[in-house]
Amino acid sequence: MGKKVDIDWSKLGFDYIKTDLRYISVWKDGKWDEGKLTEDNMLHISEASTVLHYGQSCFEGLKAYTTKEGKIQLFRPDRNSARINESCKKLLMPEIPEEKFINAVMQVVKANKEYVPPYGSGATLYIRPVMMGVGHNIGVKPAPEYIFTIFCMPVGPYFKDGLTPCNFIVSDDYDRAAPHGTGGQKVGGNYAASLQAHAEAAKKGFADCIYLDPATHTKIEEVGAANFFGITKNDEFVTPASPSILPSITKYSLLYIAEHYLNMPVYEKEVFIDELDQFKEAGACGTAAVITPIGGIQYKDNLHVFYSETEVGPITRKLYDTLYGIQLGDVKAPEGWIYEVK
Ligand SMILES: Cc1ncc(COP(=O)(O)O)c(C=O)c1O
Repeated sequence: MGKKVDIDWSKLGFDYIKTDLRYISVWKDGKWDEGKLTEDNMLHISEASTVLHYGQSCFEGLKAYTTKEGKIQLFRPDRNSARINESCKKLLMPEIPEEKFINAVMQVVKANKEYVPPYGSGATLYIRPVMMGVGHNIGVKPAPEYIFTIFCMPVGPYFKDGLTPCNFIVSDDYDRAAPHGTGGQKVGGNYAASLQAHAEAAKKGFADCIYLDPATHTKIEEVGAANFFGITKNDEFVTPASPSILPSITKYSLLYIAEHYLNMPVYEKEVFIDELDQFKEAGACGTAAVITPIGGIQYKDNLHVFYSETEVGPITRKLYDTLYGIQLGDVKAPEGWIYEVK
């Protein structure tokens, strides 16, 4: 497994830590440069960069895991590569070839091996690819140059108690996305638009807010920066369908796991906020959140509790154990899901 830095892995939250090396590549005159690793964690960019004024930026989030045997592996980085290119297309930014993307992720993980938390620590290495418009430009138009960078840091659970349920509150006053906007892409502006709703939910004592569909405010879209799933009283796995939801790689992995590992019927369909009674368990899922059980959802004056506000439900636990087991190499993965970092 090699030497590790001196970090108490069990105390990690989801905070920035400067690791040794990050990758940076520049797109200029119609092409990408080779890209390189650098110790410098500061960017020096034009004051007229589109990323600063017009939000021309997108990003990804994925993790590296240490297996029982000490191997380091990535979970479905090809899906992050495909998704960042969808975001780039939406914001008229150049795409990043899949090979360049995966190779750069591998370089960053290898260069920061000492920060990859050991097997059994409960922590993982979070990897953050970012793409942004830079160069001198003041009109509202695509930038003349782009920076693609990737950095990483060891993290613990995103919601502070891991597999302990959290309560969420429906955001009735704010939307994170417009009906035909950029909700389905991982672009910076979506997150700026979510800060106020999150801050108000946190102030009221909730882990985050639940966004409803922006057109009718009747259907669940997202749980903060994670997707929603529910387990019906008939043991079906249900997750909302909508073009303004970010297509979560974790969610699509859970749809597969529920169907093929747990033999459950699975559905992507509309989930109405006034039909929560159909679910006996519910959860939020994402790379950072993994699976966070939803204890209850506050909607107007009512707190709707699913399985329990303190205990994880049995099906949510099975989904978590299978997903995390695959990520750690303890459970056999479907073909093509795991990339070893050699
Ligand atoms: C808005 C939003 N929804 C859902 C997710 C979960 O997606 P994934 O499972 O690919 O991490 C994320 C995180 O990437 C997100 O930012």
